[in-house]
Amino acid sequence: MANERSAPPLPLTAARIGAPRSLAPRARLHTRIPVADRFREDVLAGLAARPKRIPPKYFYDERGSRLFELICELPEYAITRVETTLMERHRQEIAACLGTGVWLIEYGSGNSRKSRLLLEALRPAVYMPVDISLEMLEHAVRQLALDFPWLHIEAVWADYADAWELPQSGPQARRVAYFPGSSIGNFDPEDAQRFLARTARQVGEGGGLLIGIDLKREVDRLTRAYDDAGGVTAQFNLNLLLRINRELKGDFVPERFRHVAFYNEAFSRIEMHLQSVVHQQVTVAGRRFCFFAGEAMHTENSYKYSVQDFEALARCAGFRLKQSWIGAEEPFAVLYLEVS
Ligand code: AVJ
Repeated sequence: MANERSAPPLPLTAARIGAPRSLAPRARLHTRIPVADRFREDVLAGLAARPKRIPPKYFYDERGSRLFELICELPEYAITRVETTLMERHRQEIAACLGTGVWLIEYGSGNSRKSRLLLEALRPAVYMPVDISLEMLEHAVRQLALDFPWLHIEAVWADYADAWELPQSGPQARRVAYFPGSSIGNFDPEDAQRFLARTARQVGEGGGLLIGIDLKREVDRLTRAYDDAGGVTAQFNLNLLLRINRELKGDFVPERFRHVAFYNEAFSRIEMHLQSVVHQQVTVAGRRFCFFAGEAMHTENSYKYSVQDFEALARCAGFRLKQSWIGAEEPFAVLYLEVS
């Protein structure tokens, strides 16, 4: 990598309270991660709950982020491919819709690969990638700064589901949020609506939202996308246990759990679980938890929408649908909405 000589990451506590940090001549990193150790709190509360559950945002440690990138390339997982094709095929039209010189905020930017497809056509005044994974964010920003030297980047290390405060630095411009990959599917519908309402406030009157939505389709194909033949999604799911072991002094034995994914028709959502194969006890952060044989711990929901369903949800949050691009081979939608 060309630019690996940059400053080493600050210790977590310092980074959490520090001023914005420069990553490249036109790129800065802001921190909006709360000081409290939410991973610990959420895991302990989730293990004590019935049914047990862990929020899906914790999938994305370094290995989890890498496994997710592999998922995006799986033959069974169409989301990333269809969305990328749509963005490539319609980028001029999409850019024209959004308007040039905007402030582009991307929620869950990861490797920023999809934004790359837009940046040249869009020429935003500011690109603000927001991600929960610091390693990913820093790496993506450094690469972007090399490849788009004209681009002004204000990166934010944050959990986009939090009510984080928008950094005000950089040239002011009309704001457009970008939320690709159908990540909105991780929220329950009420949370999705709350999140959209917060997004509407963040971009303000006249602001925009470009969002990718995975659409309802045939159940078999949906299920296979979350239970691939190569077992990559199983690794991704089980990696949660390894992360808990490492970061919270846990003693999970991953071999004693099984990856389970199925479509829940009543809720229009894929559910992922980690199912205990045996009766067992597990210790995490000094506390003991019991799993009975066959007990499932819920790790993710991935809601599937129709364009009409989603439009209604977004309308309640203050957005009006302006334009949509629908996948030809696979049911996936890229939608552009505005606050009005
Ligand atoms: C990143 C939430 C969109 O739900 O399809 C992929 C995550 N989980 N395979 C999805 C995921 C298992 C993904 N999102």
